[in-house]
Amino acid sequence: MCSPERFAVEYAINPWMDVTTPVDTALAVKQWDRLRETLVNLGHTVHLLEPQAGLPDMVYAANGAFVVDGIVYGARFKHEQRAAEAAAHRAFYEEQGWRFIAPNETNEGEGDFAYVPEAHGGLVLAGYGFRTDPAAHAEAQEALGRPVISLHLVDPRFYHLDVALAAIDDTNIVYFPGAFSHASQRVLAQLFPDAVVADDTDALAFGLNLVSDGAHVVLNSEATRLAEKLKAAGYTPVPVELAELKKGGGSVKCCIAELRH
Ligand code: ARG
Repeated sequence: MCSPERFAVEYAINPWMDVTTPVDTALAVKQWDRLRETLVNLGHTVHLLEPQAGLPDMVYAANGAFVVDGIVYGARFKHEQRAAEAAAHRAFYEEQGWRFIAPNETNEGEGDFAYVPEAHGGLVLAGYGFRTDPAAHAEAQEALGRPVISLHLVDPRFYHLDVALAAIDDTNIVYFPGAFSHASQRVLAQLFPDAVVADDTDALAFGLNLVSDGAHVVLNSEATRLAEKLKAAGYTPVPVELAELKKGGGSVKCCIAELRH
């Protein structure tokens, strides 16, 4: 994770960002800190990246890489404004001794890649249409040795896969069908017949931008209907308030890069 001490909306690269809306940075830090504490209280170890001047989106740490089986497939940002973030992530992984594979293709890490470890032996789900280039899906498959399923995102409000879909345990996902092309909706329905399906209200409240340890699902507190659905499906929803970070177009999942050994 990376503290939003330097978070601001200085440019608009997704429909949620409005440079004229003021950001309360102190409140962003407070809300983010509660998310960090929530993860620690659930038993997770949180490593921190140092926020850097001139990189106001660095708080969205999910975009810096995608890690599966201890292999790190690095990011290459679409927009120049975020390009320098990739090096900060790379340095973290290299210092910690992870196997790092540098990308040639444009991709925004866990923003557009999800992993479902026990689905069909281990499946990578990958989004394209706004940020990540489909060529990066093939590159990720070669880097990671896991099948990559390409999914077409068609609604600009859901510009990253992780605002429209999330793994909720080792075999299952939750998603909002309307974010995907009809063909990609069919693919998802075939692969995940038991998926939890979210509605547009919860999706627009960033409810799908969640992290789950298989039992506890940490999600944006505004996604109340989704929390009820997850409860009915046997999970424990853990709501957190992240209103300030919504102004940059992100929530829970965007703030977290998952380290998969
Ligand atoms: N302002 C950031 C951008 O547009 C938000 C990134 C959100 N991160 C995510 N994983 N969806 O790139």
